Amino acid sequence: MMRDMENGKREENRKPEQPGKRQDSQAERLKRRYGRAVPQRRGPMGPGGHGPGRQRAMAKGAPKNSRATIKRLLSYLNEDKAKMGLAFFCVIINTVASLAGSYMLRPIINRYIAPMDGTRGDAAGLAKALLAMALVYAAGVLANYAQAKVMLTVAQNSLQKIRDDLFTKMQTLPVRFYDTNNNGDLMSRFTNDVDTVGQMLSNTLVQLFSGALSIIGTLGLMLYTNVYLTAITIIMVPVMMRAGGAVARRSQKYFSAQQASLGAVNGYVEETVTGQKVVKVFCHEDTAKKEFRILNQDLRDNQIKAQFFGGIMGPVMGNLSQINYSLTACIGGILCIWKNFDVGGLTVFLNFSRHFSRPINEISMQVSNVFSALAGAERVFAVMDEEPEAPDDRDASVLAPMKGHVILEHVTFGYTPDKVILKDISLYAKPGQKIAFVGSTGAGKTTITNLLNRFYDIQSGSITIDGTDIRHLNRNNLRENIAMVLQDTHLFTGTVRENIRYGRLDATDEEVVQAAKTASAHSFIMRLPKGYDTLLEGDGANLSQGQRQLLNIARAAVSKAPVLVLDEATSSVDTRTEKHIEHGMDRLMANRTTFVIAHRLSTVRNANAIMVLEHGEIMERGSHEELLDMKGRYYELYTGVKELD
Ligand SMILES: Nc1ncnc2c1ncn2[C@@H]1O[C@H](COP(=O)(O)OP(=O)(O)OP(=O)(O)O)[C@@H](O)[C@H]1O
Ligand SMILES: [Mg+2]
Repeated sequence: MMRDMENGKREENRKPEQPGKRQDSQAERLKRRYGRAVPQRRGPMGPGGHGPGRQRAMAKGAPKNSRATIKRLLSYLNEDKAKMGLAFFCVIINTVASLAGSYMLRPIINRYIAPMDGTRGDAAGLAKALLAMALVYAAGVLANYAQAKVMLTVAQNSLQKIRDDLFTKMQTLPVRFYDTNNNGDLMSRFTNDVDTVGQMLSNTLVQLFSGALSIIGTLGLMLYTNVYLTAITIIMVPVMMRAGGAVARRSQKYFSAQQASLGAVNGYVEETVTGQKVVKVFCHEDTAKKEFRILNQDLRDNQIKAQFFGGIMGPVMGNLSQINYSLTACIGGILCIWKNFDVGGLTVFLNFSRHFSRPINEISMQVSNVFSALAGAERVFAVMDEEPEAPDDRDASVLAPMKGHVILEHVTFGYTPDKVILKDISLYAKPGQKIAFVGSTGAGKTTITNLLNRFYDIQSGSITIDGTDIRHLNRNNLRENIAMVLQDTHLFTGTVRENIRYGRLDATDEEVVQAAKTASAHSFIMRLPKGYDTLLEGDGANLSQGQRQLLNIARAAVSKAPVLVLDEATSSVDTRTEKHIEHGMDRLMANRTTFVIAHRLSTVRNANAIMVLEHGEIMERGSHEELLDMKGRYYELYTGVKELD
């Protein structure tokens, strides 16, 4: 990932300055790089494959199939149907109460304040009527409170499920997915996008429902009160709807852009934070700032646009509603004078007509929330729809116990179909044998180990363990039986003991200590402030690289897997310590089929067979002595006669 970033920056530096247009294209390029999957490197390979359509779905965040997305979102509410029903019932009570409360004003005015027959008002009657009105409103408020509480639970339940599904899905995704996606963008999907969905589930659904209900109820009461005045409102409503619709359409576009920009900014920050040392070492702070500013500017622009169109909805609708109100007041007044329309009727009508725009307003505003939530939901669902690791065959074999007889026959593989990395690799390793891979950087050594535990599936040829093709083996069974020390060390947040025990969860404390001793990690662990209980954080940031490697070796040592892969396992350990751990390593490798990758050739001398790999092909093979006698590539590497190209 860092390599990509540095290359990218170099590219940028080379680019001639083109003010104006340059900013845009650079923003797009950066966004493409940090804000989404990198489709160039994913190809339709392996079982299942990733179709181009899916790549595009991951790439952008625009809601393209809103109906399907809504359906899928609603499916998360299924379990809480009863609660939803209760919430919607409360909404009905609230709406009816508020409409009834408003309408009660008509008889109150006409009977107790300004009776139509010209008699005096009735104070006692007024007090009673007002009390009744207050009770009706109070019922509405209570219902509203209950509704908010229930919906919050419903929404949070769904969010919990969505996060759970997303995380569960991420555990099933192949290594290829992580190799080709930006961590920060994935994190953004987990946080921001899920949040926007949460907003919609807790507020929007209810508001849409209550808005629609209010509109229908108010319209009914308006018609009942005065047909002529209702006509004015009915003419104004489509105008308002049109205006609202126009604004909403625009905000939909910008909300998707906003979520994508947010993903890109997060991606960039994540990468610069994890690679901060490299940024500093190469004095890239200024370039990083410049690039960040471009992405930040893009986010700002998109947020302004999205929120502007979201925000002007209120004022636009408000103004139209004022016009509607004035017109109604004017004509209503005339009707009172000429057509004997009651003052109470006019008062409640004006009240209704002023509040009529509110639900329309609310609905239009919620529409923009819906769009942003749909954009978020699509980004979340895009990950959920990613092709998982191909499932095991239904009759997948389980080798228990596995002996560790590994055979590679004519294995050909490329990460993408157009670029072959490994060509026609054939070799065998009998149980307990030690096979070493040596060769220059990028020759394909790590790639071979990626194939052994099926991080990637081969394109042709076969890999068998104990005579069974690994593609027909149960994947967990396969991986349980291959202990790996990866080239990139990784430690989890947790104690030293927990990190070692990761290799085998049922290992006893003694076995953990034994494994640490095998890896020569015991003595330095004992020097840590709390020994085996020292908490490691941030990928073991408080350890040296060599110590991290020793812990990774200890983790492999605690496992009882019959096959062991050591990819540059001791590359950062000093030669003295390496000598020191040799015995431990010998013990570790005894009775296990071991594949060792090492640049330091002294560590592979005692291997049963050494494979010299160049450009994905086995160039030479044999024991240390045989290879030296051959006076070929290995001889050159070992004696340093010729520098590698
Ligand atoms: N995830 C990946 N996607 C695409 N290409 C990759 C990926 N990983 C490695 N490659 C390519 O595969 C080739 C072999 O890489 P590999 O990691 O196997 O080399 P290596 O022999 O282990 O090198 P080193 O000694 O540096 O660890 C390289 O050319 C590399 O560019
Ligand atoms: Mg490697």
